[in-house]
Amino acid sequence: MENTLSIFPTMEVTRRTVIETGTTALLLSSLPRGALAAETEQAEPSDISIELRVNGHLHHLTLDPRTTLLDALREHLALTGSKKGCDHGQCGACTVLVEGRRINSCLTLAVMHDGQSITTIEGLAFGQDLHPMQAAFVEHDGFQCGYCTSGQICSGVGMLAERRQGMPSYVTADLTQPLAEMSDNEIRERMSGNICRCAAYPNIVAAIKQAMGEQT
Ligand code: FES
Ligand code: FES
Repeated sequence: MENTLSIFPTMEVTRRTVIETGTTALLLSSLPRGALAAETEQAEPSDISIELRVNGHLHHLTLDPRTTLLDALREHLALTGSKKGCDHGQCGACTVLVEGRRINSCLTLAVMHDGQSITTIEGLAFGQDLHPMQAAFVEHDGFQCGYCTSGQICSGVGMLAERRQGMPSYVTADLTQPLAEMSDNEIRERMSGNICRCAAYPNIVAAIKQAMGEQT
C-alpha cells in the first residue's frame, strides 16, 4: 500500500506521482506566498544602546545587535578610513585598535565593545603631526591604491605593541632581541593578516622598520 500526502484536501499525492511527475515542485509553487518563509522567520532583535569611545570621543549609539564594529564605525560614525575589503576576516583592511590591540573590525560585533576605547586610522595622528607609522608609510611609499593602507598602518602599530609586550610570532627566534632588530621575516609573518593587492610589501616592511627604529 502506498502512503499518500494529504496536505491539500483536493489533491492526493503518492510517492509514485512525486517521482513520476515532480509534483513536489508543483506543491511548493502552489503554497500561499510567504507560507514557507513564515515558518522559518524569526523575530527581529531589538536595538541595543551602547557607548564607544572612538579616537578619544564618547559616542552613544543605538544599534541592531548584529551590527559589526566595522559597520558601526563606517555607517553610524562616518569614520570611513577603515575599509571593508572582504568582510570575512581575510584581508585586514578593516583593522582597528581596541584597547590598544589590533582586531579585524568586520569580525566582531559593536555591542561586544560597549564601553571600550577604539582607535581608527583617523585617530592615530597627533593633531597636525602624523603618527610615526603614518609618516614612515608616506616616506617609503608603503602603498599604491591605498585601499589596504589604513589597515596596514593600524596593524603595524598594534604589531609593534605586541612585540614590545613579549608576544611571540610563529618565526620569533628570540624574544629578548631588541625590537629594532626584528627581522624582515618576522615583520612579514606578524603582518601576514594584512593583504595588499598592489603588492607594496617591500615598502610596507621598510616603513615598519623605520617606525620601529623610531619607537625603541
Ligand atoms: S574586511 Fe575585515 S578582514 Fe577583510
Ligand atoms: S596599496 Fe593597494 S591594496 Fe595595498
